[in-house]
Amino acid sequence: MPSFQRHVFVCVNERPPDDPRGSCHAKGGAAVRDRLKAELKARGLAKTIRANNAGCLDQCARGVSVVVYPEQVWYGGVTVDDVVEIVEKHLIGGEVVERLLMPDQPHVDARRRLPIVSGAALLGVLVLGGGVARADDGKPASDPPPTKPDPLAQAKAEDANLESDAPRQGVTISFAVGGGLVVGNGTSETIPAASLRLGHVATPNTVITLEIAGGTFQHKESTTSDILYDTSGSALAGALYYVTPSLWIRGAGGVNVHTQDNGTAGTSKMVGPAGAFGAGVDLIRRRFWVFGAEMFAITAINRNGLLVTGAMGIGLSHY
Ligand code: FES
Repeated sequence: MPSFQRHVFVCVNERPPDDPRGSCHAKGGAAVRDRLKAELKARGLAKTIRANNAGCLDQCARGVSVVVYPEQVWYGGVTVDDVVEIVEKHLIGGEVVERLLMPDQPHVDARRRLPIVSGAALLGVLVLGGGVARADDGKPASDPPPTKPDPLAQAKAEDANLESDAPRQGVTISFAVGGGLVVGNGTSETIPAASLRLGHVATPNTVITLEIAGGTFQHKESTTSDILYDTSGSALAGALYYVTPSLWIRGAGGVNVHTQDNGTAGTSKMVGPAGAFGAGVDLIRRRFWVFGAEMFAITAINRNGLLVTGAMGIGLSHY
């Protein structure tokens, strides 16, 4: 069953040396084709993008002529040194290489943001092929370039991966700040609240989290006493789960330390178990950064009873 998403036709037409029209073969069409094949193979894209030989494409004066379908993008004057840019920017990144575009060719309307290659192919880019950017070394197609990943190519492939809403992999760090309500221990106050989470992606949809959350709030010993300030901090371990590519829920359990200001009697510390529940949505993702909104509730138990903190806020995460 055919699996190609794209065909890249490279003109390799050959004419006699004295033919006034010239030919793409004489300008290096075969070398461009060979390099393209090698790059696609090295990046694990050969099963989804086909490099095809083409006869004359009627753009002889602009050769070497290359056309990419289905987006119908025509490149002219292509050299071996342009191949990596076409592969990385266009075939992986989904953006045409403007400087190589032939004028007056009927490109598709949305050519500036073209579909990217599949996630599996991107994985191939990162793991197998490694996005190698290098000058032409003249080796034939049967001798693919080394597989050491080039940082620029890797970054571009990862940028392209942002088009997918799939959560990233590896270590994560998230910080959320907002405001909410704390109820319990004889108080009911609106408060500022913050949460700092470190995590590690366990599965494509699950992140194991370690969290420190805290807030401060006021209370009065009596209606006539001064306002006193308590702080509440929790250390929690749990998991965050992506229900959809951008919507997540999380839960965690751990310990809470509540510091109560007793006025002239000093402060007292109360330690007890705590649990957290939260939900959020990823709103904007750029490279490794995600900006989102979330809500969370933390319940702690100490000798004064139940202390429930609910908060909504905005967050920034790095995946
Ligand atoms: S020879 Fe290549 S376009 Fe005509």
